[in-house]
Amino acid sequence: MDQNHPGLVKFPNGFLFGSATSAHQIEGGNFNSDWYAWEKEGGHITNNDTSEVSADSWNKWREDIELLKQTNQNAYRFSIEWAKIEPEEGKFDQGAIDHYRKILQELKRNNVKSMVTLWHFTIPLWLAKIGGFTNKKSIKFFSRYAEKIAVEYGGLIDFFVTLNEPMVYILKGYIQTVWPPAQKSWFKSYKVYRTLVKCHNRAYKIMKQFTEKPIGIVENIGAFAPLKNNFTNRTAVNLAKYFDAVIFIKPVLKNIDFLGINYYQKFYIQAKKPFSSQKSDLQNDYGWVVNQEGLYQVIMENKKWGKPIYLTENGIADETDKYRGQFIKEALHNISKSIEDGADVRGYFYWSLLDNFEWAAGYTMKFGLADINRNLRPSAQVYADLIKKYSSD
Ligand code: BGC
Repeated sequence: MDQNHPGLVKFPNGFLFGSATSAHQIEGGNFNSDWYAWEKEGGHITNNDTSEVSADSWNKWREDIELLKQTNQNAYRFSIEWAKIEPEEGKFDQGAIDHYRKILQELKRNNVKSMVTLWHFTIPLWLAKIGGFTNKKSIKFFSRYAEKIAVEYGGLIDFFVTLNEPMVYILKGYIQTVWPPAQKSWFKSYKVYRTLVKCHNRAYKIMKQFTEKPIGIVENIGAFAPLKNNFTNRTAVNLAKYFDAVIFIKPVLKNIDFLGINYYQKFYIQAKKPFSSQKSDLQNDYGWVVNQEGLYQVIMENKKWGKPIYLTENGIADETDKYRGQFIKEALHNISKSIEDGADVRGYFYWSLLDNFEWAAGYTMKFGLADINRNLRPSAQVYADLIKKYSSD
């Protein structure tokens, strides 16, 4: 790793060193959401795990902030749960609104910058019942929710993210059918894609009336490379890149103040048999190819959009905690190298602050700096030391 980066590892003033979570995965009690209903159907989640309690962050959020402080982090990316804010169509829950305000105030008091996602895969049940994002009315509903968030917390939140990984949502929910609503349909996939683009664009314009804070989107962007360097494979790589993220970035580009990149995997593409991996690469507990040089590749490929970049998620499922410390170190080295080479990267959020409900994998995949009982793993200390070493503010 270092042989490719002999330069000094350096970060600009005010660089964000944080970690990320999402509401449904850590809070528990998201009973009015489509995901909870899906979990209760049974048969969809490993071990039939449910998010009912999860890490209980709804009650233990102060302990989560403690973890951030103990590890020197100066930023936290988390999400607000739409199904809790608006459990019935048009009826906002004041208790839930006050709850998130307390978290935001506590983060401010501790000088931790907040990056808040409005939608991280889950939707209120009432919206799911009328077709979710296949229903055009969802544009109006999402914008109204986004407006509410901007009005309530416009001055408190430091960075807003409207949507998390829209293309992953379409892939899992409408193509692979491993997530709700599990409806295999290219037509619906296209409809949801169009609708989500409009949700973002409309919400952005409305939110801007109530907040001056930056608003962006988050895309899951893989590092693609041809398995054998030939024309067919290179064409397949370009297609994969297009459908992975370009397809969504282009139509929202005028309406984002930054681009959030979630980087997890490298894919070696072979046109006839896509997504093969090279066994020489490290694989995480999921079997995903872990290659942190891919982080550099992804940043450099997305510099062209001319927007500030935040690494909004980068994590490794590693129950043994054997690889996580080195993984984070390599992430920071590759980011520093990309900055040296002209990229405008302003923050890094490790996924995740703590183990949580990992969607269809239930509690089997452990991404956390801490376990679900908030015991920090040794790699958390590695991250804390790196932050101390690299922070200039
Ligand atoms: C998602 C997270 C998820 C992580 C690991 C990302 O694509 O945003 O919610 O837990 O991947 O699978």
